Amino acid sequence: MNPTASTAATPTTSQPPATHFDALGGQAGVVRLVNAFYRHMDTRPDASGIRAMHEPDLASTKAVLVLYLCEWLGGPKDYSAQRGHPRLRMRHGGFSIGVAERDAWLACMRAALDDAGATPELHGALMTAFFKTADWMRNTSP
Ligand code: HEM
Repeated sequence: MNPTASTAATPTTSQPPATHFDALGGQAGVVRLVNAFYRHMDTRPDASGIRAMHEPDLASTKAVLVLYLCEWLGGPKDYSAQRGHPRLRMRHGGFSIGVAERDAWLACMRAALDDAGATPELHGALMTAFFKTADWMRNTSP
């Protein structure tokens, strides 16, 4: 038997999580993150503008963001299976997104990651990646 393959097939608790999805606690962790994200969007004064872009009832929006983030973080690819290519910039084209909107979105996500108890390493890695995606979504200047 190949000892390397055997070790890889039986991860021990001392090994780091394989993906950011695992590090966040799998799907249950992503659901907690998304609930916290929209709770902050609902309550932070600096997020009132982006909150107003969303429907009053956030249930379906939350469900789609959970699907998307599970896939984006390295978990199951249900978003693509159900909705096809994300084409996120196109999907956000109907909303006016500048620096203030980008920063409000990131502030909600930063607070949600704090609530989720992300380690400093995970927090830093995800905020760097979220910044890139949110910045790419900008379609107005400044
Ligand atoms: C930069 C500021 C952003 C604003 C103002 C914004 C706003 C919105 C709004 C208003 C919707 C529509 C919600 C609905 O139809 O119920 C939406 C959908 C979505 N947003 Fe954002 N968003 C931003 C950034 C991001 C980022 C950085 C991500 C991913 C990391 C993201 C992921 C998504 C996804 C996955 C959807 C649903 C797309 C679909 O219908 O399949 N958004 N966003």
